[in-house]
Amino acid sequence: MYKQELAIIVQSIIASNTVDEHIKHAKELSGFYGKISTVQHSKNNETLIKGGIALSSSGAADCVDDYLRTVFFIKGIYKALTKLSNDFPERSINILYAGCGPYATLILPLLSLFDEDRINAILLDINAKSIESVYHLLSVIGLDQYQLQLIETDATTYTKPENFTIDLAISETMHYALTSEPQVAITRNIVSQLPAHGILIPQEIRIDLAYTFFDYEPSLKNAKQEVKGHKQMQPYPHNVFVDRLFTINKELFGSVIHNSKIESNFYDLPAHFDNHPDICIFTELKIFDNIELKTAESYITNPYCVVSLYSIKDYSGIQFVYDFSEMPKWSYTLKD
Ligand SMILES: C[S@@+](CC[C@H](N)C(=O)[O-])C[C@H]1O[C@@H](n2cnc3c(N)ncnc32)[C@H](O)[C@@H]1O
Repeated sequence: MYKQELAIIVQSIIASNTVDEHIKHAKELSGFYGKISTVQHSKNNETLIKGGIALSSSGAADCVDDYLRTVFFIKGIYKALTKLSNDFPERSINILYAGCGPYATLILPLLSLFDEDRINAILLDINAKSIESVYHLLSVIGLDQYQLQLIETDATTYTKPENFTIDLAISETMHYALTSEPQVAITRNIVSQLPAHGILIPQEIRIDLAYTFFDYEPSLKNAKQEVKGHKQMQPYPHNVFVDRLFTINKELFGSVIHNSKIESNFYDLPAHFDNHPDICIFTELKIFDNIELKTAESYITNPYCVVSLYSIKDYSGIQFVYDFSEMPKWSYTLKD
């Protein structure tokens, strides 16, 4: 019964076309999990690792309520799985899902749309409660006949089994501007184990630099009440795009990043900035193919202010450094 209910919800998510529909069906998914989940989520079981903080099981459960995030990831993953099923019609598709949380939100709802023998997945989470919860859900919903391995481990250091060739790697372990959570450290580890044909989701995380008025930029403060699609938002009109600082994708780790720091060029500081006094980082995602998550559609694509131009005196240039060796963070260097 639950399996069928979940299949109907996920089919509605895949078919949804408007922001209102996205929100409606994401709420149905959230309600479904709320109804059947009995494992107690804790707010106190965050884990600090090299590369960032892994959310508590309660915090990770709440991610389902970041509605457009949830809907666009599910749509993108469905599209990627459909492509892989067509590309490899004779065998099962190997999925590595790093940071599944207590609901395995980005894969579990999609399972029943594919035959059992077509899916072979490894689900990782560092949080024992989350793993326990996913076991419970699989059995209650009636999805435990799928080939799934659940492993409590750190995805920044995990090594896949030799006979498991990853076709699809998924991780949503991020905060806006790639601060706090270990998305980049996890992605680096996964990408090093991904074959040429393997799909990484999100396919691209684009990090842009702009001079703007931070308080006037759209930003999602309450995803349950005020979520909007990007076409319904008014971006601040005097925003000055400076540059794309980098894009996290499969290719980046092979070439540019050899340690845990990404350094930008030096940029000229503007002489006049009344209309755009803040230096900000903008995050957008290409989840898969044409499915994208734009600024302020989700908590994870909210803008982030690095520094106010008013606090910088007598300097001409600025360089930005993203460091994910410990807690991921931004800093800057000034040039006379
Ligand atoms: C933002 S939540 C997302 C949960 C779920 N995937 C979703 O999309 O709703 C991130 C999850 O990744 C897990 N996580 C974070 N860092 C991790 C790491 N280094 N290794 C394994 N799991 C990690 C957290 O415990 C949390 O459950």
